[in-house]
Amino acid sequence: MSAALTNAPHSNAVGRLPGRHFLQTPGPTNLPDTVLRAMDRNAINHRGPEFGRLGRAVIAGMREVFGTQSGMIALYPASGTGAWEAALVNTLSPGDHVLMSHTGWFAHLWEQMAERLGLVAVMLETDWRRGADPAAIADALSADKEGRIKAVCVVHNETSTSCLSDVAAVRHAIDKVGHGALLMVDAISSLGCGPFEFDGWGVDVAISGSQKGLMVPPGLSFNAVSPKAMAAGKTARLARGYWDWAPLAVANETGFFPYTPAVNLLYALEAAIGLMRAEGFPAIYARHARFAEATRRAAAAWGLELQCLDARAYSPGVTAVRVPEGHSADKLRGLILEHFDMSLGNGLGRIEDRVFRIGHMGDINALQLMGALAGVEMGLALAGIPHRAGGVQAAAAYLAETA
Ligand SMILES: Cc1ncc(COP(=O)(O)O)c(C=O)c1O
Repeated sequence: MSAALTNAPHSNAVGRLPGRHFLQTPGPTNLPDTVLRAMDRNAINHRGPEFGRLGRAVIAGMREVFGTQSGMIALYPASGTGAWEAALVNTLSPGDHVLMSHTGWFAHLWEQMAERLGLVAVMLETDWRRGADPAAIADALSADKEGRIKAVCVVHNETSTSCLSDVAAVRHAIDKVGHGALLMVDAISSLGCGPFEFDGWGVDVAISGSQKGLMVPPGLSFNAVSPKAMAAGKTARLARGYWDWAPLAVANETGFFPYTPAVNLLYALEAAIGLMRAEGFPAIYARHARFAEATRRAAAAWGLELQCLDARAYSPGVTAVRVPEGHSADKLRGLILEHFDMSLGNGLGRIEDRVFRIGHMGDINALQLMGALAGVEMGLALAGIPHRAGGVQAAAAYLAETA
């Protein structure tokens, strides 16, 4: 494999590449200098007073980010997959049914995990080009006369397809048919990119990770847990050890953890929360919405199709763009990496090689986005993918208009 394909920034087959690598994947995302500096320190005693302060500060901050007053925050030194598992094993028992919407690759992986844990995943199919269908969820729940479905699981932002699901509408669908299932939401690539209202939307368990909209390196993940989900934990019989919420609930009071926490990542998280508060959540969401729109305008000008077919479901943090039949999205990404030192997201599962994904989440400004779009447009030309010129210009015009 050539050095260029290892994704190593600043070098390729012909030697050093000057300038910054463009990391335009939908996670991990670029790290603000403030976050990098905050981590760059000696380890501290995680049983000492300074750690208690840090623990309490990040838990309070995450409560704000999730939009919850009453939710318990569980913070794991794990990737998002760990927090998925935690959500299931803390609330459910072997043989329980979970209703999932097959919206894309990450919904598929969550389903596989549920099955491996001994749950029965009831899947609502989609074409991977839209969000979860609240009407189909309501129908499946009203057909569940025996009350076998214990949780409805939705991926809020399906990172593989760049389609968002309407969590409030899913809650409404559950309530409309009077079903008692818990609502679990994967907010791994939505948190910090667009509105998320844990309390307001009536979410029971939300799952997230550090490496996307939160602007923190990979390695931390989270559950926000409603009182109803905590109560379900008292009778849930799936085996759990490390993921158990009960000892972590103590951390919410004291700031201390039942094991050695990822201290330096927590310093990073504290700094990132500070940056989010300084920018303000409405401004963060408006910035993401604007950059997503600029990216879609570029794709439209190129004459390329978006993977997401529903304009109400467009993702604020990532845009998956389809290449025309007979062309390879992976070859395009490879050329862009080799010639312009930019990493884009790849197509996953059934859309492997059919789409490339432009990440525009986290710590990004208008000129970074313009650089990324210029890299794509140059790459399209290099790869010989049929397109019209003018995507960069269309995005620039929109960004100028809305500045
Ligand atoms: C929506 C979604 N869910 C789950 C995951 C899995 O998270 P991780 O790779 O951090 O384990 C990802 C990762 O990209 C994701 O985007």
